[in-house]
Amino acid sequence: MKVITVSASKTYDVKIEAGILARAGEEIRRVARGNTAVVVTDSTVGPLYAGQLELSLSAAGFRVRTFVFPAGEQSKNPETYLSLLGFLAKNQVSRSDLLVALGGGVTGDLTGFAAATWLRGTDFVQIPTSLLAMVDSSVGGKTAIDLPEGKNLVGAFYQPSLVLCDPLLLDTLSPACFLDGCGEIVKYGVLGDRALLRRLQKEHTAFDQEEVIARCVEMKRDIVNADEFEGGLRQLLNLGHTLGHAVELRSNYSLPHGCAVSIGLAIMTRAAVKNGLCAQEDGTEILDTLTALGLPAETAFSADELLPLTVMDKKRQGDSITCVVPRGIGRCDRMRFSLPDFEKFIKAEG
Ligand SMILES: NC(=O)c1ccc[n+]([C@@H]2O[C@H](COP(=O)([O-])OP(=O)(O)OC[C@H]3O[C@@H](n4cnc5c(N)ncnc54)[C@H](O)[C@@H]3O)[C@@H](O)[C@H]2O)c1
Ligand SMILES: [Zn+2]
Repeated sequence: MKVITVSASKTYDVKIEAGILARAGEEIRRVARGNTAVVVTDSTVGPLYAGQLELSLSAAGFRVRTFVFPAGEQSKNPETYLSLLGFLAKNQVSRSDLLVALGGGVTGDLTGFAAATWLRGTDFVQIPTSLLAMVDSSVGGKTAIDLPEGKNLVGAFYQPSLVLCDPLLLDTLSPACFLDGCGEIVKYGVLGDRALLRRLQKEHTAFDQEEVIARCVEMKRDIVNADEFEGGLRQLLNLGHTLGHAVELRSNYSLPHGCAVSIGLAIMTRAAVKNGLCAQEDGTEILDTLTALGLPAETAFSADELLPLTVMDKKRQGDSITCVVPRGIGRCDRMRFSLPDFEKFIKAEG
């Protein structure tokens, strides 16, 4: 088992081990204060894994209640959030009880936000089941739901009490969804680990899951420990996301998050090379890694279609936007652009 400890406003462990789901009850018991555990899961993951989790929680002495919502980003909305709160109310869940997110990033973000706001804060545990959630979204305490106007517009920084990562669960993930998670892994490689990028170029998606997940979590841990509330350093994790979110929104979420990030990263990389901000060889290596994996690096949406959609971006301040620019592998900088300059910067890539 690999254990990575995050020391943010809350200190908690991320435990990575094949088969850990079967022992989830005893692991959760160690961090729990109350006796009720509310499992939150979606309609795809629930039938696969909720039964095993419920058994393990019951064996550890919990009263277990399970809330299931329809799988997909479309559910990460105020309606699902309110119906989850209604479920908590109906089941008289108290502040000392705990929520358990069993699922991908959608489940984790939704459950985390409900936990942050239910009775002004109830404990929660993350059991990520998608690669994207294991390498990225389950750690660091960003929780949110979407509005029709944009992604993640309502949320809170709220850390889990524990993260249990079982790579065996990835066996049932579709190849497309697995690949999607690789979009965030490439992001970590570009931010600070050339060896990780080389590994992906060579091994494609056949990498040792426990090792790669642990490497990404370690990098995220270091950033979150230094800047939990995204005052500066943590903004680096938004590499590829400013345009990625625009592509995601423009596709009406038919393009999954990791693929959108891949496209956003590719656009920023080409633009950085064209504007003389990124060394050609590093730019080529980043783009080659994306294509070696089979991740998308292009979009049919034009810059004119995407730029207005960055308007709702949280990185936007008044008439300027702060964006993460790859200057090279292991060297990404936050740069502030006026909106006309950002347009020029992006259009140079085409
Ligand atoms: N909080 C953060 O820091 C953060 C970071 C990155 C992404 N995110 C968010 O994460 C979300 C994307 O996460 P995601 O890709 O995991 O989406 P998701 O939760 O919708 O999961 C993708 C699909 O895979 C299915 N699935 C998940 N695990 C499975 C398994 N083991 N077997 C079979 N099917 C499984 C789900 O049911 C779903 O249909 C986005 O909403 C994004 O904004 C949040
Ligand atoms: Zn992301």
